[in-house]
Amino acid sequence: MEQGAVAAEAPSWRPSIIAFCCNWCAYAGADLAGVTRRQYAPEVRVLRVMCSGRVSPGMILRAFTSGADGVMVLGCHPGDCHYRVGNLYAEKRVAQVRELLDLAGVDPSRLLLRWVSASEGALFASSMNEFVGHIRSMGPIGGGHADRP
Ligand code: FES
Repeated sequence: MEQGAVAAEAPSWRPSIIAFCCNWCAYAGADLAGVTRRQYAPEVRVLRVMCSGRVSPGMILRAFTSGADGVMVLGCHPGDCHYRVGNLYAEKRVAQVRELLDLAGVDPSRLLLRWVSASEGALFASSMNEFVGHIRSMGPIGGGHADRP
């Protein structure tokens, strides 16, 4: 086997994932995942926001243009939002940004919306691992920076 073929089979690329987490639910879920020693992929950078409704399309697009290969928006379950309907706004915005991504030639599945409560540490960890696995299988966004550390 040629040396180049070996390198192609074992890329050093690791995805960069941004997870916008609502302070009241998903961020607390992340905390619970840590307290209960549930491991999740280290590629995820958690950014705390006060509500998933606070995450604007511009913030999501900025994450992508800054190098994220995948973006997650995690909020309270419907009916549990501390600001009543912030998560419903988030749902609409994520759907709109997915359409924009599609128009731009980016697979919309690189953007994920998930409801995770403060008591769902296991769901938080499994959601992270599942999404990172999905992005890993897709490869880098645009395929242009596979050697990025
Ligand atoms: Fe959690 Fe609104 S307060 S999604």
